[in-house]
Amino acid sequence: MNGIVERFNKLLDLSMDYLEDGVRKEHHGNEAKPEIIEEDSLDRVESEIAACSRCRLCENRIKTVPGKGVLHPKVMIIGEGPGAEEDKTGIPFVGKAGQYMDKWMDAIDLRRDRDLFIGNIVKCRPPGNRDPHPDEIDACRGYLDRQIRILKPSLILTVGRIAAQVLIGSSNGIGRLRGRMYDYKGIPLIPTYHPSGVLRNPESYRKPVWEDLKAVRKFLDSL
Ligand code: URA
Repeated sequence: MNGIVERFNKLLDLSMDYLEDGVRKEHHGNEAKPEIIEEDSLDRVESEIAACSRCRLCENRIKTVPGKGVLHPKVMIIGEGPGAEEDKTGIPFVGKAGQYMDKWMDAIDLRRDRDLFIGNIVKCRPPGNRDPHPDEIDACRGYLDRQIRILKPSLILTVGRIAAQVLIGSSNGIGRLRGRMYDYKGIPLIPTYHPSGVLRNPESYRKPVWEDLKAVRKFLDSL
């Protein structure tokens, strides 16, 4: 049996040589094996998240919420973390805030199934919708960065204070951070308020959010 495998491998080596440069080379069976660099993929990140126990948020989750949308989206929206509806379904921004955010997107002609990838800073629901703790954010950060690298969005839109602070690397409040464009690892980033904040206080936040959404549209139209 071993003899057959050896002969087959030798044959394979010979045909590879001819394919590569048409010259037969000597093979001694001790050449360094080429390093195989596996390409990262969204599915791979998603299955790692599904099995993740890097922080305490895994203890109470019903489902992980890895994020959802198209590859190479025009906009990658990044929120804070799943709420109760998202924890039940595994889909980001499907509760009240998410339905409201869909209307924002509609207003600037962006659709989940065509233009967007929607994700969060942390992929498991913080109990009682509390803010994610710094160590939970750190534990989850690698997944988000891999997703961004794979997705290559044209623009990142962060919603809410936490996502803006984490990705901009600032402790300023969202009122100070919004209103300009940043760069996150070569990708333009626009921060705005969280839809749940706007639902709670539309008088204060509707207008600035609309300014930010217009900036998103203007940027996309300039590409
Ligand atoms: N709020 C968030 O920040 N993310 C969700 O997925 C849902 C609500």
